Amino acid sequence: MYKIAILLGSVREGRQSQKAAYYINNELDKYENVEVKFVDLFQLNIPMFSKQLKPGDEPEGKLKEYSDILRESDSIIIVTPEYKGGYPAVLKNALDHVRDEMFFKPVAVASISSGGFGGSSVLTQLRVVLLHMGALPIPARLPVSYVQDVFGEEGQLLNESYKDSTDTFIKRLLWFTEAIAEKKKQDNNN
Ligand SMILES: Cc1cc2nc3c(=O)[nH]c(=O)nc-3n(C[C@H](O)[C@H](O)[C@H](O)COP(=O)(O)O)c2cc1C
Repeated sequence: MYKIAILLGSVREGRQSQKAAYYINNELDKYENVEVKFVDLFQLNIPMFSKQLKPGDEPEGKLKEYSDILRESDSIIIVTPEYKGGYPAVLKNALDHVRDEMFFKPVAVASISSGGFGGSSVLTQLRVVLLHMGALPIPARLPVSYVQDVFGEEGQLLNESYKDSTDTFIKRLLWFTEAIAEKKKQDNNN
């Protein structure tokens, strides 16, 4: 069983990105060897980063819940809107709270836009941040344009052209998830 965390980086009133995240979650649920944990930064409402924990220190409360989900995951999908050509502050805040939790883990980015460019700028910027964290952003991406026309409220697919791209996105992430998780197991057994 592989554990995949979905990290939703949109907290805006009237947000749209959660619809893409729900669709990805629903598609992942079809895999019997995958367990999904959904991290909605709006619901979790973690504090603004103000203190770097020392090695060995345990985070508390909501931060612990968040940290544990990422720590236990084999890989992570970040679903993020593009704001002003970059990532939302709430997502960067969430990433600033963690370090080891994401180290050497495959991360796939779904970039969400209400316009026609599929959030290509946030994808580029977020990958740089992830590399600085020692995470492994994978080559596969899921750029979503005109998100409001692509998914329904519960993540139903309204535009069939996103079926294949989402399937490929998930399959490629699973490839990296399995490869890295198995290598880590081998290393631990030696
Ligand atoms: C503050 C702000 C800045 C935005 N900047 C961009 C942008 O640079 N590029 C873009 O494609 N969409 C931009 N958008 C529109 C988002 O693509 C749109 O809100 C979309 O629905 C995804 O974000 P959401 O989860 O907040 O709904 C912006 C939206 C907001 C609220």
